[in-house]
Amino acid sequence: MQRDARAGSPKSPRERGSGTPLAARPAKREPDPGAFRSLPLSARLTALADCVPAGCVVADVGADHALLPVFLVERGVCPRAIAADLNVGPLAAAARRVRERGLDGCIDLRLGDGLSVLTPGEADVLVMAGLGGNTIREALADRPEILAGFKLLILQPMSDAGDLRRWLSANGWRMRDERLVTEEGRIYLVIVAEPGCETSADPFALEVGPRLLGGRDPLLADYLAGLIAQQERMLADLDKARGEAAARKAAAARDHLTRLRAAASRAGA
Ligand SMILES: C[S@@+](CC[C@H](N)C(=O)[O-])C[C@H]1O[C@@H](n2cnc3c(N)ncnc32)[C@H](O)[C@@H]1O
Repeated sequence: MQRDARAGSPKSPRERGSGTPLAARPAKREPDPGAFRSLPLSARLTALADCVPAGCVVADVGADHALLPVFLVERGVCPRAIAADLNVGPLAAAARRVRERGLDGCIDLRLGDGLSVLTPGEADVLVMAGLGGNTIREALADRPEILAGFKLLILQPMSDAGDLRRWLSANGWRMRDERLVTEEGRIYLVIVAEPGCETSADPFALEVGPRLLGGRDPLLADYLAGLIAQQERMLADLDKARGEAAARKAAAARDHLTRLRAAASRAGA
């Protein structure tokens, strides 16, 4: 499986193992109702938290600091959560946070790769956020038997969202919702997927976001402007290249750009 570029540290065989719990599970303690007041949650993580239905068990894969599962349990949104990460460093930080906030009995910590640390059906909702779209796609594809146990996927890909959507729609998941959130001048995309048949088969919509294009997200015009700038840069490079293959790619890129501009003008850009 391709790793996320931001994952950082090298992986030992132990790190790549299948979900070694980092912490023993002491008796369940009641969360401190005053403690969550001081937990800082960014706009991006708040947008993810808003997508989590009350009462579900969440597995946050690639949890890093575990801010999201801690927030969800402290707020009483989730009775329990699993925070998993591929790397020892992030999981140790997560373990410290969970212990400090008295949540050892409510949040399980798992060390390992993607969904391999989970068993089928032990969590209702999967969160994978801040990872590349293809890393997320490969993690989902690697463990179909575990993926099948989820009722909802909350995904926040940092790149390659089109690849991820195409895989989801070809593998029995439909985009229930798509949201944009801005933080420190960057726009982040959140995809909420559920089991079902994706109704949009339009390749352009699957690349850009069928629910975004059909909705009224206040950040859509800015998001499309970013995609247009990216596409223009790509086209400028393709126009410099020679040969039939480059000409074909440039024609497809120009067509995509035309559709992006039309969508942007509909969105009020
Ligand atoms: C950029 S952080 C995102 C943290 C958090 N989910 C968020 O959105 O703020 C990505 C984390 O994913 C972990 N990671 C990368 N590839 C992974 C994989 N295949 N399985 C589990 N965790 C992974 C990295 O170690 C890192 O802690």
